Amino acid sequence: MMKERAPRNRTLTVLEEEKSELMRQTVHLTAPCTVDAIGGKLIHGDSLSCLEFLPKQFIDLLIVDPPYNLSKKFGENTFAGMDAGAYELWLENWIGKISGCVKKTGAIYVCCDWQSSKSVQTVLEKHFIVRSRITWEREKGRGAKANWKNCAEDIWFCTASEDYYFNVDAVKLKRKVLAPYRDDAGDPKDWQETVEGNYRLTHPSNLWTDISIPFWSMPENTDHPTQKSEKLVAKMILASSRPGDFVFDPFFGSGTTCVVAKKLKRTFSGIEREPEYCQMAVKRLQRAETNDAIQGYHDGAFWERNSLADQNQVKTASNVAGSTGLCNAPRRQQRANSI
Ligand SMILES: C[S@@+](CC[C@H](N)C(=O)[O-])C[C@H]1O[C@@H](n2cnc3c(N)ncnc32)[C@H](O)[C@@H]1O
Repeated sequence: MMKERAPRNRTLTVLEEEKSELMRQTVHLTAPCTVDAIGGKLIHGDSLSCLEFLPKQFIDLLIVDPPYNLSKKFGENTFAGMDAGAYELWLENWIGKISGCVKKTGAIYVCCDWQSSKSVQTVLEKHFIVRSRITWEREKGRGAKANWKNCAEDIWFCTASEDYYFNVDAVKLKRKVLAPYRDDAGDPKDWQETVEGNYRLTHPSNLWTDISIPFWSMPENTDHPTQKSEKLVAKMILASSRPGDFVFDPFFGSGTTCVVAKKLKRTFSGIEREPEYCQMAVKRLQRAETNDAIQGYHDGAFWERNSLADQNQVKTASNVAGSTGLCNAPRRQQRANSI
């Protein structure tokens, strides 16, 4: 039965009649494959059995959002929560296999909640160099009567060696300037004066507070129960890969990693067991052919949460002012320009 949606609900719907065609666009792995055979394709299957068929050392960036150590229904299957020792064995089972597929210059991000974080760290340390633990403030979380509401997740950042790529300039955060200090000449100190307001591009830290989970009014939203937002994944991809690099996700769910990789001109592939989620992912990839927008990432910078109105204002202002909506010119020059 198709779900009825409210008029402003933009959640992606897969129609009954689309399903078989969408599934036809996925691939199955039953024998060792080449990089070309999977580049730009989604693999439908069980990661634990597919991983052994992947080529060696082809992944530049591995992004993983595995089932956390909780009992959770995904499509037709339920992931059963287990004790920490058993969860570590489960993690070791696929992290051990996939580590051989990552290039020596590769980077790895693994998402988890605080309950699974210790196990994830323990297993990652056996295979990679752990460089940071990012804390993502998800904002939304279920209130608890006798505990603190849980509204944060961890993302472990690792590399395969000391030789790795990291582009901090690609992931700067655009913040509104609250204290607009100027130098002796009257020019802005470390901030930009624009026709839409005053902004500063700040260095990203390992505390991410600018990203919410997808919700029903966003076009990227699907019915996947634990979908990550495109903005979250865009940060990892822009910081740790170059255009053309191979991004892989062995539990792709609704396809967020692959969709963002496509939008940012990376090569991608991934694995998912549930047909329902594969269909969503293929449909999202089709949409990405004609729309590469990533909500919250605009003009080469990440915007603070709830700043869509400001971002739209920038778009409108750039349209009005021609190609230079941003007024980076010093204040004196701007005045001269406006005379
Ligand atoms: C946390 S979700 C990933 C969500 C994804 N990041 C997104 O944005 O939609 C984990 C996914 O792993 C899938 N999964 C669990 N066990 C699997 C297995 N053995 N092989 C392939 N996929 C599996 C689940 O069906 C689920 O969609």
